Amino acid sequence: MSTERTFIAIKPDGVQRGLIGPILTRFEQRGFKLVALKLTWANEGLLRQHYEDLQEKPFFPSLLSYMLSGPVLATVWEGKDVVKQGRVILGATNPLASAPGTIRGDFAIDMGRNVIHGSDSVETANREIGLWFKNEELVDYKSALNAWIY
Ligand code: TYD
Repeated sequence: MSTERTFIAIKPDGVQRGLIGPILTRFEQRGFKLVALKLTWANEGLLRQHYEDLQEKPFFPSLLSYMLSGPVLATVWEGKDVVKQGRVILGATNPLASAPGTIRGDFAIDMGRNVIHGSDSVETANREIGLWFKNEELVDYKSALNAWIY
């Protein structure tokens, strides 16, 4: 079985709106295994590294102040194709394109307040997990659920 992992973060608006429970439920219900979870107020240095490829974009300053505006729920999930599946569960970046049934399609109407982040490739996921978590914060355990999922 694949041990692919992805980094999913509930952004400050999602935390403030009380969406932690419903969002975690979607990943749990799909059958993914939670391996790390932390409520944290990110600092600018971390966010600049996290959004390294977007630093030159015109929207970067507003993205940075939004991400600094409150705590974020940082999580890591494991399971089959979880990086791609995570992106499907999130929905498209632009709310005009995010389908109902996805997190963004159900909870967001503005691209600048789109509730959730999810890694876009396995390589990015590994980089982001390393930025947000120490190795010992990734919990290695056998989920009894797996026997029913796989
Ligand atoms: P991006 O990594 O392109 O999207 P995603 O979060 O879906 O991987 O962009 C990061 C965040 O930047 C995005 O979630 C919302 C914000 N953003 C804007 O505010 N305006 C924009 O035009 C784009 C492309 C992104």
